[in-house]
Amino acid sequence: MSTPAAIDGKEIFEMLREDLSAIEREFGRDTVSGVEAITEIGEYLRNGGGKRIRPALLLLAAKLFDYQGRGAVRLGAVVEIIHTATLVHDDIIDEAQTRRGRPAANTQWGNSKCVLAGDWLYMQAFKVAVQERNFRILDTLIDLTQQMVEGELLQMEQLGKLISLDDHFDLIFRKTACLFSVCMRMGAILGGATVEQEENLAQYGRDLGMAFQIVDDVLDLTASENILGKPVASDLREGKVTMALIHALERCTPAERNLIETVIRVRAFDGVTHQEILNVLNRYGSLDAAHTCAMQYADLARNAICSFPDSEIKRALLWAPDFVVAREK
Ligand code: IPE
Ligand code: IPE
Ligand code: MG
Ligand code: MG
Repeated sequence: MSTPAAIDGKEIFEMLREDLSAIEREFGRDTVSGVEAITEIGEYLRNGGGKRIRPALLLLAAKLFDYQGRGAVRLGAVVEIIHTATLVHDDIIDEAQTRRGRPAANTQWGNSKCVLAGDWLYMQAFKVAVQERNFRILDTLIDLTQQMVEGELLQMEQLGKLISLDDHFDLIFRKTACLFSVCMRMGAILGGATVEQEENLAQYGRDLGMAFQIVDDVLDLTASENILGKPVASDLREGKVTMALIHALERCTPAERNLIETVIRVRAFDGVTHQEILNVLNRYGSLDAAHTCAMQYADLARNAICSFPDSEIKRALLWAPDFVVAREK
């Protein structure tokens, strides 16, 4: 039996190009308000780019069932609008200066306007989703939004604390993996998947999302701001203890532990440098351990869809975990 040809990112983008353009247009139409500040903030965020990985996943899930309707474009815009709203709120909470290589919206319009613009975007996403006239989709989106807000809240409560890996994984499921899972599930619902197919795709999204956030957290420690387009080493400065840190804290000496605790207590690299923290992480192979964990989630994601017959779309879904783990931004 011959092995099916692999597919690369360029081919997948080509395959999704028209639908992704339609999603951009839908997003553009959806974020116009009679109140200028909202339209301006919406436009600024949309023009900032972004990888559009969530709508791409939703499209792939729907295409797996050869779905032909308009719903995938609409819901693709919905998930990107929800993602945008969470970023606006996240940057206010994190006091971030940069997003997608540009000044974060909060630095341009201030926190108050951005909170309201984020709220407006959430409700607009639901307004568009209602057009599907599908209660399961609405249920899924409401549950998602609550999980994401709970995730951000839990994260706030855990700032500066040395949390367990289990608590950390619960957090990243809520704040990131849940949305990836919902993208896959909604594509499956549109496509008329069986319960088992829907659960497999939702599982794929969850595992992919876990890998995605673990990599995001590693990049926060290792990447440069130029490439990442957002501040680096910010998690520690914000008091966030991510996977590599948890790994090192379980192994390091009291003196090394003290270095890490100082940064997350002071919320600044003040007396302890970023490099010193990286040295501790490297001494215990903690960045590699986080990377390996992301690769394990990538494997789980691929496994979750093994029962689907071979197709170009399935090959694209098998490729996505590699992209997520190997990405530089
Ligand atoms: C950023 O998501 C928020 C996280 C969940 C880490 P992305 O890395 O997908 O952001 P954009 O949309 O490409 O800017
Ligand atoms: C992303 O968490 C979670 C969201 C749902 C916005 P981060 O705080 O790590 O995201 P970035 O690094 O600011 O993009
Ligand atoms: Mg942030
Ligand atoms: Mg981050």
